[in-house]
Amino acid sequence: MDPASGTAVVTGAASGIGLGLVRACVAEGMSVVMSDIDGGRLEEAASALRAEGGSVWAHPCDVRDLSEVHALQRAATEHGGPVDLLFNNAGVGLARPVPQCSHADWRLLLEVNVQGVINGIQTFLPAMIEQGRGHICSTASLSGLAGDPDLVAYSGTKFAVVGIMEGLAIEMRRDHPGISCSVLCPGPVATDLMATSSKNLVDSGGQPSAEGRRAAEVADYLARGMDPDEVGRLALAGIGAGDFWLLPHPDMTFEILDPRYEAMKRGRLHVDADWVLPR
Ligand SMILES: NC(=O)c1ccc[n+]([C@@H]2O[C@H](COP(=O)([O-])OP(=O)(O)OC[C@H]3O[C@@H](n4cnc5c(N)ncnc54)[C@H](O)[C@@H]3O)[C@@H](O)[C@H]2O)c1
Repeated sequence: MDPASGTAVVTGAASGIGLGLVRACVAEGMSVVMSDIDGGRLEEAASALRAEGGSVWAHPCDVRDLSEVHALQRAATEHGGPVDLLFNNAGVGLARPVPQCSHADWRLLLEVNVQGVINGIQTFLPAMIEQGRGHICSTASLSGLAGDPDLVAYSGTKFAVVGIMEGLAIEMRRDHPGISCSVLCPGPVATDLMATSSKNLVDSGGQPSAEGRRAAEVADYLARGMDPDEVGRLALAGIGAGDFWLLPHPDMTFEILDPRYEAMKRGRLHVDADWVLPR
């Protein structure tokens, strides 16, 4: 796929990695339809990019709602023509031991991180197949490649994204070779993921659920992470090179995965002391 041509759609584009992906696409000369559940922050981000000469449109959408994702696809096609590149990037995080996760929290994570990705695929893939070309990239996480304590619900949803994208990529290679896929699995990136997510978390009684110490620790850990614009540039370069696995933190990734696979061959659980954040 040649990212230098055509129109891209990015969900969760009002901030963080999504905005980094938008900036990388704009730098390559693409037109971008930016989408996010937060219409106010989305319009602000889009206006700033337009002021710099970027060819961007803003279309708010909650990825949990299939009809809103359909409306996004129609608006994107209207503005920019056929969509060549879809980034299913919108996501929410939750850092909390399992006994403290409410049913509503699990549901929110599944609906945004998994159903949101499925809605993107179901909506945009048919037109890509019809036009004979396209690329779908979904944002998973390093937590989607190895289970993470206190990020269990999050990690589970990101494993689902990895499995969906890997299977889809193979299916497309076999049945529709013009369509390619990738999965973005970053380690820590300096975004406000924990703060933006906590706005959406509710307890089992439907009340906003207080974020605990663990979320603050994870937010602090992310703040020392990679610049989201750098993640956007690396992702786009990987897509241009034909990569499936987009791994902005390769050293960290294989420090975790290599011993995990060795332990797996012996049927053992791998527990990395550095990986379990200090409590
Ligand atoms: N920050 C990290 O360290 C990190 C690491 C690995 C993966 N990720 C993943 O990267 C993606 C982007 O997160 P980020 O870190 O840039 O955080 P972020 O909070 O800056 O971006 C997430 C965006 O998604 C939007 N969003 C939330 N729910 C939505 C919904 N239902 N519909 C549409 N938009 C919605 C939010 O408004 C926000 O703008 C997420 O999928 C996240 O899981 C982040």
